[in-house]
Amino acid sequence: MIEKSHLAPTSPYPIGLNIVEAEGIYVVDADGRKYMDMISGVGVSALGHGNRRIKDAISAQLDRHAHVMVYGEFHQGIQEAFAKKLCGLLPTPLDMVYFTNSGTEAVEAALKLAKRVTGRTRLVAARKSYHGSTHGSLSVSGNEVKKNAFRPMLPEVYFMEFNDMDSLSLIDEHTAGVIIETIQGDAGVRIPSQEWMMALRTRCNETGAMLILDEIQCGLGRCGTWWAFEPFGLVPDILTLGKALGAGLPIGACVASSTLLSQFAHDPVLGHITTFGGHPVICAAGLAGLKELEERRLVEGVNAKGQLLHDLLIQHPAIVEIRYRGLFFAVELQGEDEVMQVVSGCLENGLIGFYFLSHRSAFRLAPPFTITEEEIRRAAEIITEQLNRL
Ligand SMILES: Cc1ncc(COP(=O)(O)O)c(C=O)c1O
Repeated sequence: MIEKSHLAPTSPYPIGLNIVEAEGIYVVDADGRKYMDMISGVGVSALGHGNRRIKDAISAQLDRHAHVMVYGEFHQGIQEAFAKKLCGLLPTPLDMVYFTNSGTEAVEAALKLAKRVTGRTRLVAARKSYHGSTHGSLSVSGNEVKKNAFRPMLPEVYFMEFNDMDSLSLIDEHTAGVIIETIQGDAGVRIPSQEWMMALRTRCNETGAMLILDEIQCGLGRCGTWWAFEPFGLVPDILTLGKALGAGLPIGACVASSTLLSQFAHDPVLGHITTFGGHPVICAAGLAGLKELEERRLVEGVNAKGQLLHDLLIQHPAIVEIRYRGLFFAVELQGEDEVMQVVSGCLENGLIGFYFLSHRSAFRLAPPFTITEEEIRRAAEIITEQLNRL
């Protein structure tokens, strides 16, 4: 008999696996059943589970010290080292990091920073976007159904259609910031056109609005380049990161130029603060994670792995479309019933896939970058077996 839980639920129908350990691309339940984690715990475990280097880095930092002071007051070498490494992987002028505890907090910081540095009040966001669950992030997210129970939202938020030229006219001299996911995740992996991205950058330049790219899900190699904005040949004013950044532990980051981010220090003093943001143990894990990604050249392998997964699935007649970049996949089926059937059938057969919150006729795949060719072939077999049953 399962005991009464004292944990607040998020859904009446959670997946409910009872996980006791995880290693590589597998998670193992209490009955010893192994499941392929084909979603990386929703975009987190890019290095797979149980990475030795990450465990060692956590343990070494714990031996030195854990929390000693709120963010920003003490010099903590590990925070500096992580920020330096991260900025070293980013283009100019992104040379300063504000660490938060989560993705949604990184977005909150980015929205406040845009207002602070422009002295303006309006925000522009994209329909079907997802930026998090706190009030500010929810206010710039595009799923109206998810917002209704929690109104009022932030005022002066205007929504443009993602990838639509006419919508760019919503951005004007009153706009503090424009926030989009470089590649929309929860909307079912939507990739904007090169033309639209360039026009968006130009419009922000012309009006003085801060361009905020949310790469909490699509960044850090997930789309086959370190940053999803890279192939578009532009750089945001503000970048938000999270999910894979802590190599399995919770951390987010709001990244910008030092000219912008240093303004958080005055007018008002302590205008944006956090107790645990940039926790030293998590910075140690994150730094080891970036080194692991870099030294094992894992990002460089992402495109070929994604291509293989795509090629193994695309011929199936039940698949309407596959939208993907790197190892970030939306597999479009006829409708929600088909998605439910395939996702639950895969789970019964030892593979974890998942839904999208805002796009119910596709399922997501986003495996760890460490997945082998053999594991990709096995995953495609399990998925194909379920597609055959439709
Ligand atoms: C693009 C994007 N932004 C923000 C968030 C919020 O991150 P967190 O759940 O860590 O608050 C998510 C989470 O799924 C996301 O995908």
